[in-house]
Amino acid sequence: MWRRLSPRRICLGIILITAVAILYAAFKASSIIIPKACTDDQTTRIFDNLCNLYQSQAVGGNLCEVICTSKSIIYEDCLFKGKGKKVIAATYNSKKIILKSRNERLEEFELLFSANDKGGFAPPEMDYDSFKSMFKSHMEALMGMKLVDSEDVLLSKMWTSPILQNDELTPGEMNSVWTLVQQSEFNYLKYFHGAQFLPDIYGSCGHFYAVEYIPSGKILDPSLLSLSEQWDSAPWPNRAKIGLSLMDLIASTETFYSEILHLCDVKPDNFGVTEDFQVKAIDIDISFFTPQMRDYLQQPDCTADEECDFFDCHGACNKSTQKCLDVRTNNNFQSVCSDILMHHHTYPGLLRNPPAEVATEITELLDKCVNPSREEKYIQTPSITKTFQRLHSLLKESLQIR
Ligand SMILES: Nc1ncnc2c1ncn2[C@@H]1O[C@H](COP(=O)(O)OP(=O)(O)OP(=O)(O)O)[C@@H](O)[C@H]1O
Ligand SMILES: [Mg+2]
Repeated sequence: MWRRLSPRRICLGIILITAVAILYAAFKASSIIIPKACTDDQTTRIFDNLCNLYQSQAVGGNLCEVICTSKSIIYEDCLFKGKGKKVIAATYNSKKIILKSRNERLEEFELLFSANDKGGFAPPEMDYDSFKSMFKSHMEALMGMKLVDSEDVLLSKMWTSPILQNDELTPGEMNSVWTLVQQSEFNYLKYFHGAQFLPDIYGSCGHFYAVEYIPSGKILDPSLLSLSEQWDSAPWPNRAKIGLSLMDLIASTETFYSEILHLCDVKPDNFGVTEDFQVKAIDIDISFFTPQMRDYLQQPDCTADEECDFFDCHGACNKSTQKCLDVRTNNNFQSVCSDILMHHHTYPGLLRNPPAEVATEITELLDKCVNPSREEKYIQTPSITKTFQRLHSLLKESLQIR
């Protein structure tokens, strides 16, 4: 029998067995629950430190009382790993919420006043008017543009407790709001509170802020599912609705304010999905309005376009001056197409396996979305192109297919 097997067949057999072994290993690996990097002890330490600071009036915020005194915010789970933001899931009035801060400890932020030996903060050396004016300049630098709000209005907008007329923030409160506005996600959520594509913000205590709980869920973040579940778990209508809401979100990033908000960290787990399939941006730290985007993009020296990329926001190199240009050469829609809608590394792609009636056109549109012509690439186009509009109506049509 062995004599009848040609070398070609033996080779094919080996390739087949190897392929099956690799697939099996990948299947097993994708089913393994990756251990969490954070621990409950670490979260307890975070709450203890925060509440000690609150007791000594070194921090403030509308949620300190419910975290530290009535303890009606109840810890559920920690969701962070490594050097990322400290993200804690908790319940408040039976509702799930998220507490977040870029750093674990207050002292890791730039502070306005240093702690005195009693654990409280030394009285400010600067007068209150100087603080308000510094606060406004800082916010304008962060947003990369002039803000129309007066100093008082801006501070009231950004602080999480009401500021009565002629009232002043205490040194602890000033330090708290100062650490919060060093976190760009807090700035966007608080300044644009009410924007439909952003999670609600509930308030803060010290350097932590609390937001609406909107997990990515198994459809958008299937990293903990097995390979077979990834392909089977989500029916097309649910994925099409999420795709539509994601496209509406992209449209909003270009229309909700006078400047486009460039999303430069686009990946499935940076978006949350509500129970009725509405998508919200749950991680917008690496997002910039156009003036600031231009500023960041043009800074590096370069010899190739790729050296001008800022995460998912792509730049271009002026080869003669060897400096990056101040233009973004892709748009939010293109980033979402390549990193979420289409297959991407281990992510199977939100719009995988569409109904046969729309399959070919969806593939063509996604291809057009991620591979614009060279000329188009250098013109900074807005997201709402013909390709965008056609994909949007095709997804809507696909919901009618029985
Ligand atoms: N509003 C939210 N609702 C539900 N889960 C959230 C929310 N915000 C964050 N998370 C969870 O916490 C994780 C980390 O949060 P986030 O992405 O803001 O931090 P990060 O440090 O930027 O992480 P990464 O670098 O992995 O993107 C998210 O991937 C998500 O699972
Ligand atoms: Mg993230």
